[in-house]
Amino acid sequence: MFITLEGIDGCGKSTQARLLAAALEHAGREVVLLREPGGVAISEQIRDILLDPANEAMSDACELLLYEAARAQVVHEVIAPALDAGSVVVCDRFFDSTTAYQGIAGGSAREDVDRANALAVSERVPDITFVFDIDPETAAARRSDRDGSPDRMEAKGLAFQEQVAEGFRTIAREEPQRVRLIDASQPVDAVFACMLAELARAGLPVDAADARAALLSVGA
Ligand code: TMP
Repeated sequence: MFITLEGIDGCGKSTQARLLAAALEHAGREVVLLREPGGVAISEQIRDILLDPANEAMSDACELLLYEAARAQVVHEVIAPALDAGSVVVCDRFFDSTTAYQGIAGGSAREDVDRANALAVSERVPDITFVFDIDPETAAARRSDRDGSPDRMEAKGLAFQEQVAEGFRTIAREEPQRVRLIDASQPVDAVFACMLAELARAGLPVDAADARAALLSVGA
């Protein structure tokens, strides 16, 4: 099973990805937890280029293709082999981020993004995707509590984040079978409970003891 978590910067999805991976591990499953862009050495190097605030001259096409290059590599090296081996793959962002950030909110045409996404993922489409929906101002406050200066993407500002959030809602409307929208303004454990309820409906139940163990081990 391939599970992806999406949302604007500061929506809390990385904490939820860690919780989900921990709960599934407690339940005895083989789990691979990854982040995008990144997850393997080549993709982490591409991530550094993408997020470096010094790279303000980066064109829209360069940005789109670098995200896709990072994705193609992590799919090839880890995601495809892990899925073939029967592991659960939990990915903190995947191709919906490119649709929302570079396509709907950014400067790339949707059809170019769709084609580039298809090339990068080579048919490894998530079984279920959670979009953590939150107001951009709340998310920005969370981010500034957490880390220092904004990276190149965060520096695009609040109006851009609002367009990205709307982009994710559009994707959720377009693909209701795969994509579930979750209210991420709730406390961490309530968001986690919503995600687990959706997963159970999708055929991957996690029992309450494993969920509690995950909350304790991640310290959320
Ligand atoms: P992260 O902070 O969630 O790890 O993501 C890094 C940044 O990259 C974040 O601002 C979102 C952005 N991003 C895109 O613009 N397009 C993509 O395809 C991905 C995966 C991330």
